[in-house]
Amino acid sequence: MTFTLPGNPVLLRSYTLEDCAVLEANPATLDSDRFSFFGVQTPGRMRRQLESGGPPAQYGDVTGQLAVEAEGSFVGGVSWHPVHYGPIPAPAINIGIGLVPAGRGKGYGTEAQRLLTIYLFSCTTAYRIEAATDVENLAEQRSLEKAGFLREGILRGSHYREGKYNDLVMYGITRADFEETRAAGSAAKVSTGFTAAR
Ligand SMILES: CC(C)(COP(=O)(O)OP(=O)(O)OC[C@H]1O[C@@H](n2cnc3c(N)ncnc32)[C@H](O)[C@@H]1OP(=O)(O)O)[C@@H](O)C(=O)NCCC(=O)NCCS
Repeated sequence: MTFTLPGNPVLLRSYTLEDCAVLEANPATLDSDRFSFFGVQTPGRMRRQLESGGPPAQYGDVTGQLAVEAEGSFVGGVSWHPVHYGPIPAPAINIGIGLVPAGRGKGYGTEAQRLLTIYLFSCTTAYRIEAATDVENLAEQRSLEKAGFLREGILRGSHYREGKYNDLVMYGITRADFEETRAAGSAAKVSTGFTAAR
């Protein structure tokens, strides 16, 4: 599966074993991944998932992960999972992203999150897509804003990292926001996001 937009240097696609080698060469550390280091992980997690075949992807999946490729190279990954508010089904999805250090600061994170948002509004019935990041993670905050997310508020003491409770900023985009942008013309390319399988 490949998802991109015409002229976009970034595409989202399934992981390959070559990607696993890049991940294994770039394990998260406190230095390189301050905002996404929550402890030591056993290396080769993604490789084992791929080798075991993993669960088959289903249409409309509200849980998933895709590799981010930019200018022909693997630079990281995006993931998503459902979140629930209230007793009446109101499908919402929380997204996450992590780029290897060499892929950062080149606009790829912004494009990957923009593409993932378009993909999820196109292929799931989610009404709301959200992402939370540390109040000090300015790169992710700016990246989400550039990808069309609105800053919604602070979740105080909501995640534990570096031996203390930290505040998160919540960002969100609703289907109504998305449709409004599309109607205004800037997302007119949405329907051409899919390319042939590779
Ligand atoms: C966060 C991340 C996804 C952002 O993607 P990226 O490709 O590096 O970011 P972009 O190049 O798209 O830049 C986004 C914006 O943030 C700005 N930015 C980058 N680093 C910044 C910093 N330290 N302070 C302030 N702004 C910063 C950039 O200047 C850019 O804004 P601009 O275009 O207005 O100049 C990526 O850096 C990453 O994976 N980091 C490590 C893992 C992580 O933090 N994941 C998110 C956890 S919630």
